[in-house]
Amino acid sequence: MATEHDEYMGSLKAQLAKLFEVSLKVTVPNELDVEPLVAACNGKFGDYQCNNAMGLWSKIKGKGAPFRGPPAVGEAIKNNLPTSEMIESCSVAGPGFVNVVLSKNWMAKSIQKMLIEGIDTWAPLPPVKTAVVDFSSPNIAKEMHVGHLRSTIIGDTLARMLEFSKVKVLRRNHVGDWGTQFGMLIEFLFEKFPNFEDATETAIGDLQAFYKASKQRFDADPAFKERAQQAVVRLQGGEDKYRRAWAQICQISRTEFHKVYQRLGVHLEEKGESFYNPYIPGVIEALNKQGLVEESQGAQVIFIEGINIPLIVVKSDGGFNYASTDLAALWYRLNEEKAEWIIYVTDVGQQQHFDMFFKAAKRAGWLPQGDSSYPKASHVGFGLVLGEDGKRFRTRNTEVVRLVDLLDEAKVRSKAALIERGKGEEWSEEEIVSTAEAVGYGAVKYADLKNNRLTNYTFNFDQMLNDKGNTAVYLLYAHARICSIIRRSGKDLEELKNKGTLVLGHKDERDLGLHLLQFAEVVEEACTNLLPNVLCDYLYNLSEIFSKFYSNPECKVIGSDMEMSRLLLREATAVVMRKCFDLLGITPIYKI
Ligand code: ARG
Repeated sequence: MATEHDEYMGSLKAQLAKLFEVSLKVTVPNELDVEPLVAACNGKFGDYQCNNAMGLWSKIKGKGAPFRGPPAVGEAIKNNLPTSEMIESCSVAGPGFVNVVLSKNWMAKSIQKMLIEGIDTWAPLPPVKTAVVDFSSPNIAKEMHVGHLRSTIIGDTLARMLEFSKVKVLRRNHVGDWGTQFGMLIEFLFEKFPNFEDATETAIGDLQAFYKASKQRFDADPAFKERAQQAVVRLQGGEDKYRRAWAQICQISRTEFHKVYQRLGVHLEEKGESFYNPYIPGVIEALNKQGLVEESQGAQVIFIEGINIPLIVVKSDGGFNYASTDLAALWYRLNEEKAEWIIYVTDVGQQQHFDMFFKAAKRAGWLPQGDSSYPKASHVGFGLVLGEDGKRFRTRNTEVVRLVDLLDEAKVRSKAALIERGKGEEWSEEEIVSTAEAVGYGAVKYADLKNNRLTNYTFNFDQMLNDKGNTAVYLLYAHARICSIIRRSGKDLEELKNKGTLVLGHKDERDLGLHLLQFAEVVEEACTNLLPNVLCDYLYNLSEIFSKFYSNPECKVIGSDMEMSRLLLREATAVVMRKCFDLLGITPIYKI
């Protein structure tokens, strides 16, 4: 049975590319598999452009093709284009660029169709069914720092974009819950709490301080160190008491992490390093049988072409490390979970680790050689969060920034701003709190996502909570304003969607309509290149283009015979904005 999605022809750009593909086959029948090069141009000649003519000309000239030069190739591409409802007119410019002007009628109809059938019908269709997004991934008993916050925010957005695209996403929290440090932590726990089961979060207080104190003890007292090393062996041997102490320490950390996830509204499934531990020996054995593992200075390593240092997979003391775990986890994700795209979100500092272990996986034949085919592993790196002083972000007194405190401050500040706007009298306490959360947490997320993730950015509450400029606050308010205009019109939008007719008569209406229709290709691009800032740019531009339409007296609503149509266009803008917020993990607000 055909579902709604089967009828979906893909983004605007993809639909045009299909038409040009047909034309190219007719224009140059001897050239096989010419990929249509179609790009939005927003120039005065058209909305989109096909740029194949010049490249084709250099391929075919002198081979007896019936053209005199690139403009003639462009002319032929234009003439061979199948007729389509989408296209109003075509022209050839310069050295063979084929410009397309889209049909206003078709554009208006497509937007109205989306309003009736829902924005999900505009979801892109990526070439994978299952993906793993490995993100957040803090370490047990250590601080969850701003780097983990970035990973959480970026990873959640990528997961949301893939989920919107109907991909089954395994949201994996690859927590650091294994390793020799647990021997020391467990021994210290036994020492401090002879009845260690009593060591709840409240009893321990700050787990990081606990970590530091146990490390001090470990470094200072050889007898303690000896016991700690024994504890690792007993933990790894699966001895009950040790397993329980370990589980307890993990649980305390988890409660702390959860406070951050709960505020951000982020959902993750924990499969920590310990989960993959039993798989490591088998995986290394298999790599060994393939002849990939060599001995180097007592360690077992895999050499990677072009990189001086090898990837250590078994340390010289026989223990496993970060890379061994990652190899086992990748094996598991590919073979047990059947993931076709595995995405890792960490700071750029770990780039070399990922680069090396992806290359090792390619050598083993787990992943194809090129980067364009699947299954695929991608490292999504990001830069630092800086303080006002240009150095790594820290708070005034403490060394580290407690993420919970940071998020709470964003909420407190947005609440104060709402009170200042006089909402204290108008709204219930509950409304104030939920709006303050939406705005405060949204501001933190957006300030992070709007930059290209590879660049460092400066954390600044005043800037991110400003209601002007490219901020979540500005965008959330813009959305709330559109909603209130629609509410005040008193019209039944459901009825209007089906009975009214959307028309893109004025230039500002057409510009807005075109931008709305480009939503699908923008999500596709953000998803393919794993760049959330592409979606943020789109959202910000949407609200600017909307403003232009809204403030133009020629596009007024009340009393105009275009009232219905313009209300529908406003509604379509609100729907697309909301989907952008949703994909960015930001909760929309409806009134201000
Ligand atoms: N726990 C690591 C850290 O805090 C991040 C883990 C990322 N994921 C992975 N599969 N290596 O740096």
